[in-house]
Amino acid sequence: MDKKIVFSGIQPSGDISLGNYIGALRNWVEIQHDYHCLYCAVDMHAITVRQDPKKLREQSLAVIALLIACGLDPKENIMYIQSQVPQHAELAWVLNCYTMYGELSRMTQFKDKSQKHSDNVNAGLFDYPVLMAADILLYQADLVPIGHDQKQHLELARNIAERFNGIYGDVFTVPDGYIPKVGGRIMSLAEPEKKMSKSDPNVNARILMLDEPDAIMRKFKRAVTDSEAQVVYREGKHGINNLMTIYSIATGKSFSEIEAEFDDKGYGEFKPAVGEAVVELLRPIREKTLELMKEKDYLMSICTENALRASALAERTMRKVRKKVGFVQR
Ligand code: TYM
Repeated sequence: MDKKIVFSGIQPSGDISLGNYIGALRNWVEIQHDYHCLYCAVDMHAITVRQDPKKLREQSLAVIALLIACGLDPKENIMYIQSQVPQHAELAWVLNCYTMYGELSRMTQFKDKSQKHSDNVNAGLFDYPVLMAADILLYQADLVPIGHDQKQHLELARNIAERFNGIYGDVFTVPDGYIPKVGGRIMSLAEPEKKMSKSDPNVNARILMLDEPDAIMRKFKRAVTDSEAQVVYREGKHGINNLMTIYSIATGKSFSEIEAEFDDKGYGEFKPAVGEAVVELLRPIREKTLELMKEKDYLMSICTENALRASALAERTMRKVRKKVGFVQR
């Protein structure tokens, strides 16, 4: 049987965080040989918040460099930049007409972001989940590897697909999410009840994939924990649970192994140990990304080539969609 299709995206707004890596990118790499995968730097999503144009261009290419450095093969996977494939915008418009105002009003990320950017609550910010649904449905994706914070958006994409199929027959594959059981929600190091976000104004709250080892160590040493001084995974110990999750992923150790390792030790030893494990996890990725970022022509050629591959696949779905809704064929 032919391989199933995977689609996922990441915003090139700012530098990529350890949360993005653990929640999503790590799994993208893990499943790359078992599926036909499309991985996208979603620059059209990024402009829902004001961006510096020069930086956005650079960061879109930097995302492609980072994906390669994480271990994704740009020949085997289709890795590209969203705005280079115009069908995303075209399908998003069509799907807008099959999405309800009330559905979009319920999106928690919209509520959060419109509070954060209260001076710029633009229509794109509100409509963002429809563009995301278009990204996924355009390629008939079966599976979407994401972190926990994108679950609600994925559910909306499923609802839109089912609604459209209900009217026109089986046009879209209804996608499933793939959220890791451990690491689907990496928390801020400064406020461990909040998710780690690459745009957090507090630099100590987040680890970035390109952070220098010194910065990583400093941030982990400062990480907020609790006053119990016991390295155990337990309800309510948000800071420690988060550090244990990160340490477990960086070292491959289970929670009980970690508890045993730090049984008679305090946080003073645990926190730098997490830092060191993360430094080693990120070191090769950081070095390779920085190397690749110097090869702009190479990155550009990958983007151009893969955008063409993506566009050809997208066109298959678009032809069906145009016909179904009553557009005159080109
Ligand atoms: P974005 O760019 O915010 O994040 C990229 C991926 O990283 C995951 N993630 C996290 N996982 C665990 N812990 C965290 N603290 C954390 N922060 C982020 C996100 O869940 C995501 O999987 N709307 C999407 C991008 C997108 C997309 C798509 C994803 C656009 N179109 C189609 C999947 C399919 C977003 O803003 O992700």
